[in-house]
Amino acid sequence: MRMVDIIEKKRNGEELSTEEIQFIIQGYTAGEIPDYQVSALMMAIYFQDMNERERADLTMAMVQSGDQIDLSKIEGIKVDKHSTGGVGDTTTLSLAAMVAACGVPVAKMSGRGLGHTGGTIDKLESISGFHVELSTEQFVKQVNDIKMAVIGQSGNLTPADKKLYALRDVTGTVPSIPLIASSIMSKKIAAGADSIVLDVKTGDGAFMKTLEDAEELAHAMVKIGNNVGRKTMAIISDMSQPLGFAIGNALEVKEAIDTLRGEGPEDLQELCYTLGSQMVVLGGKASSIDEARAMLKEAVTSGAALNIFKQFIAAQGGDDSVVDDPTRLPQAKYKIKVAAKESGYISKIEADDIGICAMLLGAGRATKESEIDLSVGLVLHKKVGDTVEIGDQLVTIHTNKLDIDDIIQKLYSHIEITKEKTDAPQLIKKIITE
Ligand code: URA
Ligand code: CA
Repeated sequence: MRMVDIIEKKRNGEELSTEEIQFIIQGYTAGEIPDYQVSALMMAIYFQDMNERERADLTMAMVQSGDQIDLSKIEGIKVDKHSTGGVGDTTTLSLAAMVAACGVPVAKMSGRGLGHTGGTIDKLESISGFHVELSTEQFVKQVNDIKMAVIGQSGNLTPADKKLYALRDVTGTVPSIPLIASSIMSKKIAAGADSIVLDVKTGDGAFMKTLEDAEELAHAMVKIGNNVGRKTMAIISDMSQPLGFAIGNALEVKEAIDTLRGEGPEDLQELCYTLGSQMVVLGGKASSIDEARAMLKEAVTSGAALNIFKQFIAAQGGDDSVVDDPTRLPQAKYKIKVAAKESGYISKIEADDIGICAMLLGAGRATKESEIDLSVGLVLHKKVGDTVEIGDQLVTIHTNKLDIDDIIQKLYSHIEITKEKTDAPQLIKKIITE
């Protein structure tokens, strides 16, 4: 096989065979096919697309390019959740404990992440003593014992995706549905999930800005998953404003604990129940979404979900007293209140720019090397659709530095107040099962 023939084939809009796709991915991972040929192919795919079979083949070729986690020693159906990412997205922590409390094993590998705040792993590290490195044996044992473990990425998962993503990033070929969908799905499949629930975000703070794009990506990923034997479904949820109130690592851990008590922000609580009920059904622990939702609510009101969260923290060496006393989490030196300068309705809280404010305080990484300040961030007091009186608090800034006038100005310019009534955005926009 010659790479140039494959490039020409795709350039002309033809379909690539399974063997051709494997040849490309194996050759590129091994360093035998040069970047310039793969860039040309990525551009051809960008313009000519891939059909369902090609997308599934590309995903599996990337899965097979590296290690695959074997979770077969964990009892039960392993259901994983993936979010395409947003601002203040604290969902994983509360969701995992709720679902585990319903008997579905949660064996999760999470990332650190560039961006507005850290990833799930950074957030967990704001709990003193908590460690994210477990051997595979420890990982499996912990999930069998208490139904929940969250560890950092280990092993050499999907090296082909790492190389391809870096190449796409500098060749204008990131925004391609077949390439994004196969990239995301390959990582989930290599991490060992039997079943996958996707939370595809849409809006200003999301990777997919429009509902149409989010829907197309969701459909593509659901098809790939189901075509390669992993039951997959997706919900499309709002990311026009940050999720919940807290944006920042330790602040989001506290928010997750509140949510496990049933006292979380309405949107986060609802998102956990929506995603969770799908996971409980896929995990075979309930026969309908309604039954699953009732189980999740019961796990919250009975304290079972919070109890699993405590056990999970203790099992990974963390200080589980933070659950009863969240002030034991890292605290910022200063809390600065930002008050409304006019009365009306909150019509916009622009997720992306609010996220950048949290990052400027030190909650997120600007580059891979940046250190995160786990204690800092923002707590919103209003959400879109709320009424506001002049002088009401809009946001509390948790900060360790006082020269933040520019951040305060930025907050004012990205929280819009209007005289006309604005409705809260619809949180769950679509549920996609095929
Ligand atoms: N996120 C991924 O993991 N892959 C992509 O291609 C785009 C976003
Ligand atoms: Ca949040």
